[in-house]
Order: sequence, then C-alpha cells, then structure tokens
Amino acid sequence: MRVRTRARLIQLVTVGVALLALLLASCTHTHLPQDTFNTHGSVAAKEAHLYWLVFGIATAVFFLVEGILLFALIRFRHRPGRGVPTQVHGNFRLEIAWTIAPAVLLAGVAVPTIADIVTLARKPTGNVLQVSVIGHQWWWEVHYPTLKVSTANEIHIPVGRPVYVTLTAGDSGAVGPAVIHSFWVPQLAGKQDLEPGHTQHLTIEAQSAGVYLGQCAEYCGISHANMRLRVMADMPAAFDAWVKQQLVPAQQPPPDAMAALGAGGCAGCHTITGVQGFQGTIGPNLTHFGGRTTFAGSIVRNTPDELSAWLRDPQAVKPGNDMRIGPGGLPGRSILTDAEIQALVAYLETLK
Ligand code: CUA
Repeated sequence: MRVRTRARLIQLVTVGVALLALLLASCTHTHLPQDTFNTHGSVAAKEAHLYWLVFGIATAVFFLVEGILLFALIRFRHRPGRGVPTQVHGNFRLEIAWTIAPAVLLAGVAVPTIADIVTLARKPTGNVLQVSVIGHQWWWEVHYPTLKVSTANEIHIPVGRPVYVTLTAGDSGAVGPAVIHSFWVPQLAGKQDLEPGHTQHLTIEAQSAGVYLGQCAEYCGISHANMRLRVMADMPAAFDAWVKQQLVPAQQPPPDAMAALGAGGCAGCHTITGVQGFQGTIGPNLTHFGGRTTFAGSIVRNTPDELSAWLRDPQAVKPGNDMRIGPGGLPGRSILTDAEIQALVAYLETLK
C-alpha cells in the first residue's frame, strides 16, 4: 500500500514539474516585436512600470500566504497517535489584521494606478503631432490634420515627439453593423478601443527609430486577425522628408493603367490625389501606395508579386474585405485580365 502511494506521488510530481516547465517556457525573453515589456516609448514604459509594481506586490502576497499555508499543512499534519486538535472559532485581532492589511495593500496599488490613469489621459503639451486614426473592417485610415497628409495602415511619427492620436470607428452603424476596434501597438502604448459614436484619444511617443508592430485587439469580424498596423518611428529629418513626399501629387497613370483603373472601378473607393476623378473614400488613399512597405491591413508585403495576387483574388488574401472587383461588382475572383493587373501593379508601385 505504502509503495503504491509513493509511486503515485512520484507520478504526480513528474506531471507537475512538466506542466511548470511548459508554463515557464512561455516566459522566454526574446524581444518579440509585440512585447509589452520591451518598451520603446514613454507611455508604454510608464504602463510597464505600473505593471511590475503591482506584479511585485501580488508576488509578495502570494509567497507570504502560500508560505504560511504550506507551513501549517506540514507542521500540523496528522500523525499517528495525535488526537483531534482543539477547535477554536474567531480571533478578533487576527480578523482585524487581515481586513486592514489587504485594504492598505489595495490602497497602495490604487494610488499609483489612478495617478498614472490621470497622467496618461492628459492631452500632451509642447510640440505635439496630431494624428487621426479611423478603424474600418479591416484596415486603418490615417490622417495628419495639421499636415494635410492621408495614408493607411502605416503611421509615420517623428522620434521623441508626443503624438496625440484621435481614434474613431468608421463602421458607425449608419450603414451595416456598428463595429468596435482596438488600437494596440504594444511597444508604444496600451490598448485603446475605437467605439462608434465616440471619440477616443491616446498619446504615443517613440524613444527610438524603428518599426513597431500593432494590431486590432478587439474582435471585429472575419478578418479581425488581418487588421494589423505599423508605426514607423523616423528621426525628425526623415519624418519631415516623408511628409514632404506625401504632399506631392501622384503622377498621371499611363493609358494602359488608366484603362485598368477604369475596368476595376477603382475610383469608386480610392483617392489618388492629382488624378482626376479619383476621390473615393471607402478604401485606402493610394496616392503614395508604392511608398508603403505593406498593404491590405498591413498583412501583405508590398511587392509586385503580392500585389498581383491581391488584385487577382483579394478575398483569398483577406476574407470579407471591400474589394469588389468580381463579376457584377460583387466580391469574388477579379474580372481584371492579367494584362490589366500587370498595368495596375506597374503604376501603383511607382506611387512612392
Ligand atoms: Cu478591428 Cu479587430
């Protein structure tokens, strides 16, 4: 009987150690691109600092409580010959102590939390850049109201400057469903929901140049997972050069590209500044499409091959999207010929 109990105990411990090893394996610190602890901005750093403070207090409480529990379990365990212990009920001093101690701890957590909430909600001052982001199913529309620049999915910001992001939901419920999205670039700031009928704000500030990956963090339909974004933090001079380039109108499409744009009905949804008739606002502004590193909710690398595949069958790449270049203007396999797709790709990739 004793041997069987011991074998069972060894089995349990083995399974426990294996599970713990699996759990700890998720803690590897490999600087993943969406690591909330590997912060690259003042806002994310403040949030991570608060997280570690609360985590530290929680860890101390865990070890204290579990330690006392383990000690009691082992020290006062049943032994042969020991009778039933004295039965006691209620201890006024202890009850007061373990009511006050958690209250003090929670107050200790609440003070820095509320202070950070208030600080982070404050509109930044100084040399602030305004960026307005509209969440759509399933891409991000981006405007720089003071710079008169419009783009999509890739948000350029200057390093070291606070960026005040105004967030609204494009799928407001007026036509189709009202959809909530959530803007999340983990290395720069925490999540902020985009709610139909409300205007939300979030401050981000990058401390070093680089590309910071983000994604929609609120389930918003079939292509929720395909609603990514990138914040490209540029050094100030590079950012100014980018803005300057964004203000240049697009070159005119050559005749074959113009015919393909017409065949695809592209003007109904897209703006190409400088090209007459292209003022659609349903899809991304294409004026500087070729200058972006990715497209389609930032899930596809912007290369001629990937763009051809997208124009041939957009629904296969990002299911449910609004690219209706199938027969009869319905979603589906493209009605464009290979030659038309080739002309479109060649033109769009020149729009730097
Ligand atoms: Cu937008 Cu999930």
